[in-house]
Amino acid sequence: MAAEGMTPEELEAALQAKAQETEKQADTVRAMKAKKEEKAVVAAAVDKLKELKKELAELTKAQAASDTAGADNKQVFRANLNKVLEQNLFFIPSFKIYGGVGGLYDYGPTGAAVKSNLTEFWRSHFVLEENMLPIECPAVTPHCVLKASGHVDRFLDMMVHDMETKAFFRADHLLGDFLEKLIAAEKDAAKKHELELVLARLDEYKQEELGALIKQFDIKAPETGNALSEPYPFNLMFQTQIGPAGNSIGFMRPETAQGIFVNFKELLYYNGNKLPFAAAQIGQSYRNEIAPRAGLLRVREFTQFEIEHFVDPEDKSHKKFKRVADIAFNLYPREEQLQAKGTVKLSLGDALSKGIIANETLAYFIGRTYLFLEKAGIDPERMRFRQHLQHEMAHYACDCWDAEIECSYGWVECVGLADRSAFDLDAHSKASKVDLTAFKKFDKPIETEVLQLDPQMKEVGKVFKKEAGLVKDALLALSDEQKTTMQAQLEGAGEAELAMESGTVKITPDTVKIKTVKKKISGKTFTPGVIEPSFGIGRIIYCLYEHSFYTRPGSEQRTVFRFSPVAAPIKCTVFPLLQQQKFEESTAQVAEALTRAGLSRKVDETGASIGKRYARTDEIGVPFAITVDHTTLEDNTVTLRERDSMEQVRIPLLEVAEVVRCLCEQHISWKDDVMSKYPRQEAKEE
Ligand code: ATP
Ligand code: GLY
Repeated sequence: MAAEGMTPEELEAALQAKAQETEKQADTVRAMKAKKEEKAVVAAAVDKLKELKKELAELTKAQAASDTAGADNKQVFRANLNKVLEQNLFFIPSFKIYGGVGGLYDYGPTGAAVKSNLTEFWRSHFVLEENMLPIECPAVTPHCVLKASGHVDRFLDMMVHDMETKAFFRADHLLGDFLEKLIAAEKDAAKKHELELVLARLDEYKQEELGALIKQFDIKAPETGNALSEPYPFNLMFQTQIGPAGNSIGFMRPETAQGIFVNFKELLYYNGNKLPFAAAQIGQSYRNEIAPRAGLLRVREFTQFEIEHFVDPEDKSHKKFKRVADIAFNLYPREEQLQAKGTVKLSLGDALSKGIIANETLAYFIGRTYLFLEKAGIDPERMRFRQHLQHEMAHYACDCWDAEIECSYGWVECVGLADRSAFDLDAHSKASKVDLTAFKKFDKPIETEVLQLDPQMKEVGKVFKKEAGLVKDALLALSDEQKTTMQAQLEGAGEAELAMESGTVKITPDTVKIKTVKKKISGKTFTPGVIEPSFGIGRIIYCLYEHSFYTRPGSEQRTVFRFSPVAAPIKCTVFPLLQQQKFEESTAQVAEALTRAGLSRKVDETGASIGKRYARTDEIGVPFAITVDHTTLEDNTVTLRERDSMEQVRIPLLEVAEVVRCLCEQHISWKDDVMSKYPRQEAKEE
């Protein structure tokens, strides 16, 4: 196939095959020369090698051209999309009349409707389905909470600045952009692969490594070409003060999760002290992003949908896992990334049995998240679940997968699914001194051996005098592990050290007796582990816009959003054919029936041509349109049009709202149920 006719994927595959063929031929030539084979035979092999090198160079050139054309097409696509989104008030730059503020956007009426539809869908798909406990906590959070959670010390991005203009950049983004350009321009396949390996580790680099790579590639500030500072940490939280005195520091929360952790004890009690259970919160989060670019994708205030699912850390099975075990989709495990390979299509059951996903509960939520995104209208082929590299994981996580969606900006993280282990509950319990453990009763009590520690108070009093009470408390607070160590030390060295707030004291076998006794225990006390799916709904919505947007060919170029009825901001439009009083009553009757069926609708009574009015509804992705015309007045039927096929049927006015409701809820389909039941209406839309 000629390079011009190939898709980017075919071009990449052809390039790799040609590179391998060329390398093999070069080896053959070298071997021939080493064996001093006949000159004519060697010359023929050299000619073949030259031919292969020429073909390889042509493919490399074609790929570079395709990358540039692809980037240009993406820019044009995005510019068209943003124009339509802004014109139709899907979004509005916040404080626009004052020139706007970077990273802050309003949802206009259409955008707000899409968001509210997806919110409702998320609630039913997760909160209702799993019987989760909904909760709503404040965004303003005191210092102590975020200090304990690690955010005050570790919620950082590495920043560099232009040494002349003091413009700020995220160091990893700058390095990533630079490497992507270098890779696109590199002609040598081996060097290209080397760069791809450096890029594959981008999320792993720490402060020093980022600095070294920026130096190694001699990266300068974009636009000015000025020198850059060394990378340094920047905390993303917005700081504020609580109360007028100014002595109580607070932050706008960077995630909604902490509100759930600090309420764990109450929620557990509310749930009848039973595990596993999950709590869910929908709310605003705030991050003072260093350079919010990528439009609606990286903003400074956004809505998070977060679930904290509390489990016994020794049993992370999920009783509904079987329901998702056979779903297969694109996974991008750690190993594939580190070798700069592509995604693998695996069922969740296989990924779990191969040990790629850490546990059943995490895998279950990955599966449910896939189904949510697919039903919301995200193209499954442009979605993948990428495992975090070891050092990329947030400070609290022990396995983490991101649902990434491909759009014109590349692959974008839209949902983070993390196994946070017991990190947060342990941290809050330690800092607040409140017990945040759970108790699980065994089916049958079990007999076990435990270490029993008895302080010998007569001797303790004699040795420690006024401190005796404190020594007793410290001895009784020892964990099983500490008791074992103390027992070994007492038996071995004849003394042991006991750590107290005031320092360490020496304990002898006279002051404490430790012995093994048999005990029946009815259950165990433990700090639950947490599996957390965290959704950024704004990013999902933007990707949905990209995946749904297309231009319909025709005499006039018309843009359409092919939103699923679940997401569509308005479900149905109603048009009277002409702006005449005789159509008013039937139009009002249809509109009222739609409202009664719980469907959002819009009546367009403008005098514009019917074609223009259809175009206007397509442009905001309304899936169905009803027209009241002359025939309605004769036989009480209306036309019903489906957006993507532009097909129309004639249908009794009294049935139409119920049919649209069933279509929107996907109980019936346009092709199989509506087109086969009702007479087709031929229509011209120009
Ligand atoms: P990124 O690496 O893109 O900065 P992150 O790893 O910091 O994202 P998380 O901390 O895992 O993201 O946040 C959970 C979810 O919140 C993300 O999957 C994303 O959908 C959303 N989110 C995070 N930061 C932003 C932002 N600045 N704007 C919009 N959504 C965001
Ligand atoms: N709660 C996960 C995050 O926001 O990072």
